[in-house]
Amino acid sequence: MTFQSLTAAPTTPYVGAELSGIDLTAPLTNQGIQDIHDALIAYGVIFFRDQPISLERLKELGHCFGRLHIHTGVRGLSQEHPEITHVHSDETSKHVNGEVWHTDLSCDPIPPLGSILHMKVLPPSGGDTLFASMYRAYDALSDRMKAYLEGLTATHDGGLAFKRFNPNGTYKISTHPVIAVHPVTRKKLIYVNRGFTAHINELSPEESAAVLGFLFNHCERPEWQTRFRWEKDSIAFWDNRCTQHLAVWDYFPHVRTGYRVQIAGEAAPLAEAPPIQ
Ligand code: SIN
Repeated sequence: MTFQSLTAAPTTPYVGAELSGIDLTAPLTNQGIQDIHDALIAYGVIFFRDQPISLERLKELGHCFGRLHIHTGVRGLSQEHPEITHVHSDETSKHVNGEVWHTDLSCDPIPPLGSILHMKVLPPSGGDTLFASMYRAYDALSDRMKAYLEGLTATHDGGLAFKRFNPNGTYKISTHPVIAVHPVTRKKLIYVNRGFTAHINELSPEESAAVLGFLFNHCERPEWQTRFRWEKDSIAFWDNRCTQHLAVWDYFPHVRTGYRVQIAGEAAPLAEAPPIQ
């Protein structure tokens, strides 16, 4: 795929591309915004290197793609920056953000469209993030399994992901289709994840646990993953509607620090593609 303002090098056949030739530290042109948007839709997650942006610039960058989403499970960085979450771990950490495969905030009625993470401090090695394509995971199911899952819904519970950070917090709970349709590409994808999905509503607890167990393992298979090796001032921008990700915590007790904004979704995950206008 070619773009006017940047170059994209796919990282795997199904998900991920590293983009070069574009400077995120300066305001983007309309063409630059369009190209980044199109690359995000095409590759599911896009990566940038050597982009030493400020917190203000991170928010401006997020704003190019929509309204910023205030995190419903983790407090914002500061009063000045409630839209930014500090992704940080060190020798005192008992857990880290994203240590279980997940779609960001699928417990929200309208989960974020995407997230932009800017990494500032890295451990000497490790601390990679894995991303998986839920389009490819869906396509790889048998026709019988696709037919079985069609029309089912699942409950997504923020407590599953966030109670380990704060057992006394109250968290969102929402219902979404098990098989969803991306609002832009109109392609089908699997929309359950180990981090947030509690049960399939139409099944008994035993059936739900067995089907979800199969789906989680299937979604997390390496055949539809890409693995990002961060450097200082790398940025990852993922389409939260069609990917899942996992932050590998293999670097304890070292420090890893970054800053993230999330872009608000426009609608709840859809079970059917909307009519073409
Ligand atoms: C997250 O799950 O959003 C954190 C990703 C990361 O730290 O790499």
